[in-house]
Amino acid sequence: TSIPILTIDGPSGTGKGTLMQLLAERLGWHALDSGALYRALGLAAARQGLDLDDPQALIPLATALPVEFQARRVLLSGEDVTDTIRTEEAGLAASRVAAHPGVRAALLDRQRHFARLPGLVADGRDLGTVVFPQARLKIFLDASPEVRAERRYKQLKEKGLNANLARLVADIRERDARDRSRPVAPLCPAEDAVLVDSTQMSIAEVLDRVLEEVRRVF
Ligand code: C5P
Repeated sequence: TSIPILTIDGPSGTGKGTLMQLLAERLGWHALDSGALYRALGLAAARQGLDLDDPQALIPLATALPVEFQARRVLLSGEDVTDTIRTEEAGLAASRVAAHPGVRAALLDRQRHFARLPGLVADGRDLGTVVFPQARLKIFLDASPEVRAERRYKQLKEKGLNANLARLVADIRERDARDRSRPVAPLCPAEDAVLVDSTQMSIAEVLDRVLEEVRRVF
């Protein structure tokens, strides 16, 4: 395919989402936040009282999920759920629905439709490995659990919420272990991915580093 695609995969808290938005703006390309799709599905399923561990109940919903992305807002049946899907609870629901192979398969086409000219920047866990294996540039963004926990800690404090740093580090380690060892679409870099470790880098430095690759590849 000739549509330029740049994928950014990696664990949560590495700044993937921010990087994806900055790159999409800078390049004037389309943006896909695949995590938002799983989060919207988790929210919709929970609201309908579906069993989040039952793929048979979730697959029809995933196939017909009434979600739309409009100028950085996420709409579910027309309702703006942009902030609602960012809670820890929605993240947990997302990771439960995302564990089912049938659910992931049901969301594949929808994700692939985002690939349109002039190009696409897409972020998630398996964008370079499963969704867009043909992508010309694949970034795997990582950072130490401690730094990711610290970033999350600051975010929570800024929102005036309570947070415990040691607890956040433990949670992140646990979620990493689960994401990397799950049988379906485990979190791991594509063979041809460029590894970027943002532990000691600012978001501006990460952006510069990736733009270097963009100029080299596209
Ligand atoms: O990236 P974000 O934190 O919004 O993703 C929420 C959850 O959705 C993740 O914890 C992960 O379990 C799941 N996810 C996934 N595959 C993707 C994107 C997200 O399994 N491509």
